[in-house]
Amino acid sequence: MEQLVSQIEGYKSEMSSFIANDEKQVEEFRIKYLGTKGIVKAIMGEMKNVAADQKKQAGQLLNEFRLFTENLYETLKQAASGTEVAAAGTDLSLPGDPAPLGSRHPITLMRNRIVSIFQRLGFAVAEGPEIEDDWHNFGALNLPAHHPARDMQDTFYIQQNPDWVLRTHTSSVQIREMEKGKLPIRMLMPGRVYRNETVSARSHCFFHQVEGLYIDENVSFADLKQTLYFFVKEMYGKDVKVRFRPSYFPFTEPSAEMDVTCMICGGSGCNICKKTGWVEILGCGMVHPNVLTNCGIDPNKYSGFAFGLGIERPAMLKYDVNDLRLFSENDIRFLRQFTAAT
Ligand code: DAH
Repeated sequence: MEQLVSQIEGYKSEMSSFIANDEKQVEEFRIKYLGTKGIVKAIMGEMKNVAADQKKQAGQLLNEFRLFTENLYETLKQAASGTEVAAAGTDLSLPGDPAPLGSRHPITLMRNRIVSIFQRLGFAVAEGPEIEDDWHNFGALNLPAHHPARDMQDTFYIQQNPDWVLRTHTSSVQIREMEKGKLPIRMLMPGRVYRNETVSARSHCFFHQVEGLYIDENVSFADLKQTLYFFVKEMYGKDVKVRFRPSYFPFTEPSAEMDVTCMICGGSGCNICKKTGWVEILGCGMVHPNVLTNCGIDPNKYSGFAFGLGIERPAMLKYDVNDLRLFSENDIRFLRQFTAAT
């Protein structure tokens, strides 16, 4: 009797997981379980082996099993023919329901635009860690301890180890690339950077930069200018004017900042460009010989240029975003507005 009960349970669970997608499979079910040589018949035959005092109970059990099987068969039959009806009334050539697709983040879109322009000039892409040691973020970049220019970037220090910082710029990745000792280098290094600044519509404690580095024999300031001219024309169009202003960065000499004519007012002066007609987009210069030496590169043989540009500002100008905080608030209504085509 016990054996009979467990046999029946086994068949029940086997049947329950039977999948019939069409009438042919429903028929297979019928033959297997309800046919003249089927399982239900066979198990009914077990009745003769049941002890006389248990026959009544066994009879009930077997009847119940037969009903269970018949019901399941009916259900499968209906489901399969239902599908057929639905399929017959459906135009299968119609396109399906679109699967909901997300969109790329505006910062990613802008980063990809920048990267693809420089890739056409042969720049490869590299990334580095966001938690940096003092040497890569400052020391090797010609900013020794107590150098006053460290104050230009309000730094987050890591409590457990004061030698670690959240990188304040992507220039740290330059050092990592140069240290590898493989020359020439033509690299673009996008990434997130951190500074201890009050969060407002115009500044944030983290933002994004793209760093560029080109090291080879005989690289000159003229190469730097031509590379950046090409970038600006591709990015902002042929009519945009460019100007270089002398500047200071400890890791480049000479150093410059590059402005483009304001794309909002076309150069006539507006709030975005603070009525100057120009918008600053990047810092650049010839890599300082000390930096090359720090990375084991001979400054008498090699020279190079570097530049660093922010991603948020061009993204704000392109997408007409007036508050930096929107980029990191993950408001779906904001994010949905950006598509790969924009
Ligand atoms: N690291 C600088 C900053 O965050 C930007 C920069 C300026 C990068 C000049 C460079 C460079 O590579 O040559 O403000």
